[in-house]
Amino acid sequence: MSGPGEVARRLAAEEPAVRRALTLLGELLTGAATAPSTASGFLEASLGRPHTSLVVERVDLTHTQAVSVGAAVADLVAAHGAELGPVADGEAPTWARIDLDGEHVSVPTSAAAHFPAGTAAGADVVVQLVQHDYEPEPASLRVVARPADHAAAREVCDAVLATARTEKAFFRGRVLHASSRLPLQLEPTRLATAGRDDLVLPAEVWAEVDANVAAMTTRAPVMRDLGLGTNRGILLAGPPGVGKSALSRVVARELAGAFTVVIVDAAAASTVLRQVYRETADLGPAVVVLEDVDLYLGDRKAGARGTALADFLAVLDGTEAYTDVLTIASTNDPAALDAAATRSARFDAVIHLRAPEPAACARILDRYLGALAGDVDTTAVAAALPEGVTGADLREVVRRAVLEHGRELTTARVRAVVAAGRWRPAPLAGQYL
Ligand SMILES: Nc1ncnc2c1ncn2[C@@H]1O[C@H](COP(=O)(O)OP(=O)(O)OP(=O)(O)O)[C@@H](O)[C@H]1O
Ligand SMILES: [Mg+2]
Repeated sequence: MSGPGEVARRLAAEEPAVRRALTLLGELLTGAATAPSTASGFLEASLGRPHTSLVVERVDLTHTQAVSVGAAVADLVAAHGAELGPVADGEAPTWARIDLDGEHVSVPTSAAAHFPAGTAAGADVVVQLVQHDYEPEPASLRVVARPADHAAAREVCDAVLATARTEKAFFRGRVLHASSRLPLQLEPTRLATAGRDDLVLPAEVWAEVDANVAAMTTRAPVMRDLGLGTNRGILLAGPPGVGKSALSRVVARELAGAFTVVIVDAAAASTVLRQVYRETADLGPAVVVLEDVDLYLGDRKAGARGTALADFLAVLDGTEAYTDVLTIASTNDPAALDAAATRSARFDAVIHLRAPEPAACARILDRYLGALAGDVDTTAVAAALPEGVTGADLREVVRRAVLEHGRELTTARVRAVVAAGRWRPAPLAGQYL
């Protein structure tokens, strides 16, 4: 009762690795009654050759490319009823659900699919989608074929990439937020509906912004013909709360649709800046909003460290050339930036935003008071404001006044709120040790 079969059965019950080895042996001996559980086994079963004798056409993919390519492959699989297999040993083909701002798409992220001759191409091919952990690009598309069929592999690869760039270009024209995790993920997001009328800025600021945006829009063809390049960089400089971020979002909102907008906060920029610009290559004309660059583009003379400055110099008019990218960066302190970061061609214009004049303060108050503006003499309130009050401060004044008095606002009440000064965070004082 303890023949070799019995020993094998007992071993198999005790030891998963032994069990797997026995399964594989069984597959080999019986001609694979069950589907292969290894990537090489699937290739060999599909293409009838040892996997090391096959050829692979490989393209590395960014995050957004991987999603679009996954969707293109999913369509091919559905169209031809292709058989799926693993690309990681012992792991089932895996699909990921991608959130596109409310809509979802489910795309294969780690899978192989066999297309027999006469389906995707004239010859047998296996299309693989592979995820990488330790490579610069997060994924790759690989099309595997017998060496004589290399041309078919290339043809399928081109067709998948073409569909990904057209029908499946889910990210193009959207507003995306760069996450600081590596590898970079671009998540679709929404901008507030604020427009130019919501932001009170001097006419020269808008004129300067428009002149620079024109390089990307109406003047793009002539700039391109003259070889002047269509990349543009605007640096918005000014104290906290004067509307730098709000301005970049208004511009981004106006250009979204025709442009893909990528918003990169300081935490993300210090890790994923190069990847962000690499993504723009496939997203059509793009607006990249870089928030608070002083936090990571410090002055080398002042001892700034890290790769963020080097990455920034490389992507903006440096060794890595990108086209059709409008960069809108903001900083509290342009003097703290490295000279190389602010030289022209990296930033074509530095636009200074200052605390608003009294007349502008009154208009900003009107804007935040909305329907209640008629009850308050905002010019009189503005005359009583201290120096250097910003748009963000004025918004807080109105919020405080409404919290205290609801809809019963009067000029005297708003002035009292201003005089109390609680809308401005109190400077820290005293000993905290
Ligand atoms: N000129 C303005 N007109 C109307 N609202 C303004 C103006 N400036 C600022 N605000 C209001 O203040 C809020 C904060 O401004 P914003 O975030 O753009 O400041 P910032 O200059 O980017 O500051 P920081 O340097 O701290 O990032 C805005 O969302 C807007 O509501
Ligand atoms: Mg800001």
